[in-house]
Amino acid sequence: MSNLSVPAAAPARSEWWADAVVYQIYPRSFADGNGDGMGDLRGIVARLPYLERLGVDAIWLSPFYKSPQADGGYDVADYRQVDPLFGSLADFDAMLQDAHSRGMKVIVDLVPNHTSDEHVWFQAALASPPGSPERERYIFRPGRDEIPGSGDGNRAPNNWRSIFGGPAWSRIPAADGSPGDWYLHLFDTKQPDLNWENPEVQEEMRSVLRFWLDRGVDGFRVDVAHGMVKEKGLPDWDGVAAMVEGTAGTRPGPTPPGDAPGAHTDAEEPHRAVSPVYPPSPFFDQDGVHEIYRDWHRVLAEYGSDRMMVAEAWVEPAERLALYVRPDEMQQAFNFDFLLAGWDAERLAEAVEASLAAAASVGAPCTWVLSNHDTVRHPTRFGLSDPTAFPKGIAADDEQPDAALGLARARAATLVSLALPGSAYLYQGEELGLPEHTTLPAAARQDPTFFRTRGAETGRDGCRVPLPWSGDLPGYGFSDRLNGQAAQPWLPQPESFGPLAADRQDGVEGSTLELYRAALAFRFAHKLGRGAVSWADVHAPDSGLLAFHNGDVLVLANMGFASAPVPEGYAVALSSGPEPAEEWTAMREVPVDYAVYLLRK
Ligand code: NOJ
Repeated sequence: MSNLSVPAAAPARSEWWADAVVYQIYPRSFADGNGDGMGDLRGIVARLPYLERLGVDAIWLSPFYKSPQADGGYDVADYRQVDPLFGSLADFDAMLQDAHSRGMKVIVDLVPNHTSDEHVWFQAALASPPGSPERERYIFRPGRDEIPGSGDGNRAPNNWRSIFGGPAWSRIPAADGSPGDWYLHLFDTKQPDLNWENPEVQEEMRSVLRFWLDRGVDGFRVDVAHGMVKEKGLPDWDGVAAMVEGTAGTRPGPTPPGDAPGAHTDAEEPHRAVSPVYPPSPFFDQDGVHEIYRDWHRVLAEYGSDRMMVAEAWVEPAERLALYVRPDEMQQAFNFDFLLAGWDAERLAEAVEASLAAAASVGAPCTWVLSNHDTVRHPTRFGLSDPTAFPKGIAADDEQPDAALGLARARAATLVSLALPGSAYLYQGEELGLPEHTTLPAAARQDPTFFRTRGAETGRDGCRVPLPWSGDLPGYGFSDRLNGQAAQPWLPQPESFGPLAADRQDGVEGSTLELYRAALAFRFAHKLGRGAVSWADVHAPDSGLLAFHNGDVLVLANMGFASAPVPEGYAVALSSGPEPAEEWTAMREVPVDYAVYLLRK
């Protein structure tokens, strides 16, 4: 580990996003304002005071657009409409205005790689012949080796696999009912990939950006930002064998809830879904995607200099990710290296150093993220026997975490991430220390990965469970009880949510909620988001100690096996542990699985 002082890019940028703390809202599960068991925009408005009090600078909303909800709304049927499940455009405008009046920025999700199969464009494509302009908005191909129009193409056009399991191609019937062309879907069958070589697609997405910018949004989180451009000729991928880790699922074939997303059937056997970070492939991280972001950068610039985009791009190494945040592209990219490092001092130190250096090389601020709606919540990951593990969901018959250990580590990791320069992303409920729901019954599951892998992948439902607002109310107060009644939350909550409900932690010293509030206030007071990191003398990641200076603060995180001394001349200003604040100044040792902020005495 080098001892260099890592340059921080953040101070060079004055825009709000350079050091913003952004709170991710997964609308289905945040707060239900109309008692139907599903979160909505009115529920968000009701909880804006809570977010203001928490001290976040911005909120990011996962999709709330019109959608059949085959992938929790990441299957958009109309980019300009709010799904009635969540409210109306008027509700959105009211929410935006309320957030702005509280000084909070609002980022919305943009899903440009694919639409829903229920989007008018895909419906028109199905009704139109091969080669038509309607088909050209998507990626339709005849089967491999097919004589065009002969219908004998029984093999998919190439060997690509869906990120959710199974083949990435589905076949549709021709006009006469015989087997017709295939279409590409890197995700579910209900999420056909758009053809980004088509100028009409490019123009439509510019128009969608302007639609939301005109309404006043402050930025976009760009879904699958590394996926829109595919290698010319759509060649087979030689990495596919590594991607297919197994064949059939280990659990009996599950049936999707409601309408099965099987309208277009997969022809082949299922396989395990794959790691989020891919080796080089013909469908991810193609150089051509950067042209799209240069174009969008210009669209945002029409609205001034403070609108932003953040890339969801699972690419490696950090230098490849930095390309997405060059000065004329996006403003931020999620730092998944940091998320994937787990509770491990060496891996975390490497991720911090590499990401700060890569971001600085292009003059962008770094981001820091520990959890989101696609990953097992970090208090649960850090409570597993391997706290660097990255399971694709956890089921009752999998290893169960040590909840107390995981929570202690999660609180410490949060102090680390909030002390780093740049922008931090929080996932709803992490401020309550919520664990993953690790014993959800199969019958309750909704994630398409569970169905497409026939249960081999447990999926992401466990991190999407509706939030507990009140420990004493049914559904832990997730739903407003209109006329005293409310439906059950759309996913069942575990009993462990009761004591973690927001009202049980509010004002309680030592609670995770109060720790987050204190850490955010400290970060703001000490301008940590605009600072610079240098490793401290005591930094020793090989013995589990991460230690860095940022401005006047010394941060120590103990991931080792023995207590670490508080360096001479310093006192604890904030600790991740449960002890009351009056005991901190007397602390001369940082226990294992703690992090502390130290100031000179
Ligand atoms: C990434 C999103 O975060 C995830 O939830 C979604 O399933 C895929 N992209 C497909 O849109």
